Amino acid sequence: MRKKIVAGNWKMNTTVAEGVELAKAVAARSSEVPASVKLIIAPPFTHLVPVGEAIKGTGIGLSAQNCADKEKGAYTGEVAADMLVSAGCGYTILGHSERRQYYGETDAKLVEKVKIATAHGLSPIFCVGENLDEREAGRHFEVVTEQVKNVLYTLSAEDMAKVIIAYEPVWAIGTGKTATAEQAQEIHACIRKVVADKFGDLAGEITILYGGSCKPSNAKELFACPDIDGGLIGGAALKADDFIAIALSF
Ligand code: PGA
Repeated sequence: MRKKIVAGNWKMNTTVAEGVELAKAVAARSSEVPASVKLIIAPPFTHLVPVGEAIKGTGIGLSAQNCADKEKGAYTGEVAADMLVSAGCGYTILGHSERRQYYGETDAKLVEKVKIATAHGLSPIFCVGENLDEREAGRHFEVVTEQVKNVLYTLSAEDMAKVIIAYEPVWAIGTGKTATAEQAQEIHACIRKVVADKFGDLAGEITILYGGSCKPSNAKELFACPDIDGGLIGGAALKADDFIAIALSF
């Protein structure tokens, strides 16, 4: 049975002190969430170590929001996969649409990142999703299929087994405009089929999260869909009670 996951992407929000407070508030309520649901939080790099301390012993997973496409060395401003592991991370978000859009991350770069992350034992939370123009042109299946193929088809089955996929339609991120459960389900089913075409039965074990204005009021309907295994939560992850309410929506 594949894992159910609710992951909080804090993006570039909170100071270290605020982040530790938020992590403590999530930790304090985490025992209300059934053991079948894994909670993960992804604070900014600067917060990883103290947030890791704050969630110690709770079972909440620690994730970064990005990692370098190089192992180590003269790459000013970058953070390497083994540094993330040494800071206590088990996961890293990769290929978020904000990274693709504002920082020029290409599929070619993401191939390197996904390879390095998995080689160091991190589980990538690999994001895919079409923008509004692509959706309106009816190209969403094609765009998402290409994103999955271009990056994840380069992995061995062993490394693919570590990957969590997040479908995040760009037009739904931070806009308050959520994909309907039907729109999300049909893309999730498509993603699972694309994974199955290369990796066979493993596709049934891969967790596929929905992201994009997911909140307590719509999580239940989304999570009831057969191919939606949880959520990657932005705005609503900055409030511990909303984040926990989403995790209680299965
Ligand atoms: P949102 O962000 O929940 O604020 O729409 C989701 C994400 O970008 O991961």
